[in-house]
Amino acid sequence: MTTTAAGNRTVHRPANLAARAAMVLRDNDTGTLVTASPRLYPHMWSWDAAFISMGLAHLDVSRAVQELRTLFSAQWHDGMIPHIVFTGDDDYFPGPDRWGTDDAPQRPHNARTSGICQPPVHAIALRRIIDTARRTSEADAGIAEDFAREAWPALRRWHGWIARHRMSEACGLVTIVHGWESGMDNSPRWDAPYLAVQPDADLPPYVRLDTLKVDDPRQRPSDDEYDRYLWLIEQLRRAGYYPDKVVETSAFLVGDVFVTAVFALASETLADIGAELDAPASEIAELRSWAGRARDAARRSCHPETGMARDYDVHTGTWLDTESLAAFSPLLCGGLPTETEQRLFDTLDGPGWSGHPGLLAAVPPSVSPHSGDFDPRLYWRGPQWPVVIWLFGWAFEQRGWQRHASEFRAQGVHLASDGSFGEYYEPFTGEPLGSPNQSWTAAVVLDWLCSV
Ligand code: SER
Repeated sequence: MTTTAAGNRTVHRPANLAARAAMVLRDNDTGTLVTASPRLYPHMWSWDAAFISMGLAHLDVSRAVQELRTLFSAQWHDGMIPHIVFTGDDDYFPGPDRWGTDDAPQRPHNARTSGICQPPVHAIALRRIIDTARRTSEADAGIAEDFAREAWPALRRWHGWIARHRMSEACGLVTIVHGWESGMDNSPRWDAPYLAVQPDADLPPYVRLDTLKVDDPRQRPSDDEYDRYLWLIEQLRRAGYYPDKVVETSAFLVGDVFVTAVFALASETLADIGAELDAPASEIAELRSWAGRARDAARRSCHPETGMARDYDVHTGTWLDTESLAAFSPLLCGGLPTETEQRLFDTLDGPGWSGHPGLLAAVPPSVSPHSGDFDPRLYWRGPQWPVVIWLFGWAFEQRGWQRHASEFRAQGVHLASDGSFGEYYEPFTGEPLGSPNQSWTAAVVLDWLCSV
């Protein structure tokens, strides 16, 4: 027997769950890239690819590094790693024609891509691949370390692009020009800034495809939100995708505390990799200084009473208080006084978050069930997301918080043990939502199961 039934829910035993996760990664593999999911997302997404690569490392280290190589080969000439690298599949909207990046002088010439970015988790994935490979064999370790040397310039240019174009003078946080850059597309974090995004009558018409590919379109963002998403793309196109012009002209310009904390953690992680590779001291020091600036900005964003971290709307000059998981971002990168850190952990463990008595798995939902914005079935407005749980758990482990790291791993596996590898999960019932067989969910489950 490989499964048991818990209530109405099928629960796979670890070996069977791992085999199923491996099968998802294999089935979604086109040869050079693993699509984010079979139907809903038939292309390569930047932060998905990073998580996918570290899952692949448990199956085949050469294939894992190939995944990052494919992504990095689509890096823009100015250093940006684009959020989507398109395959030839035309059953996704907005596709490359709508993005209209073909005329941007900085675009790569060997791939069609979108024109924005996503959270910079790539150095973290590289760290994970190296560590996994070193546990597997000397040959695998050699493959991973050789790739780290190969990827070092691309990763430094990517981090440099963020430091140069996106570290806001107004708040110090890393800014985003589209909610999609946060990775948390329709989070209530962006509700107020999106009010200022008012599509003109000349927004070209379009037809959504995403709502046709999920069981229930109410699990996806609304049409009104899509109009705003598409209007921002229009503005980016009109700015020719020049990074500074984009920042000057975008109706949406927000300091994102989660991306900032990820940038701090990833820059520090990349600096550590550089030290192992004997990279030039000045390059390592530069990465550590970016990490320090980002950490300071994340610390300064914390609410003086609750300690919860906040985003910052650059256009209105206001801090955005939202009860989303991003409020715990400084736990990813450090830099807080111990008592603020403890306060954040108490909140995270409490009934508003992981300690909510109704949760199937004791990991934080994307929005607190106590918040008026909470919707347990709607994308980034309440469901639990295994990848984000993985990221926090990995950071906790690096920072020596073993108890929290193991709990996140065990509860994350519990959440995903039905073997459907949902994009996200209803937190009270564990019902998988969005796309099934989502590659990054399979990848993090594989990593959890193979690292115990
Ligand atoms: N996640 C977005 C989508 O749904 C875009 O990155 O298509």
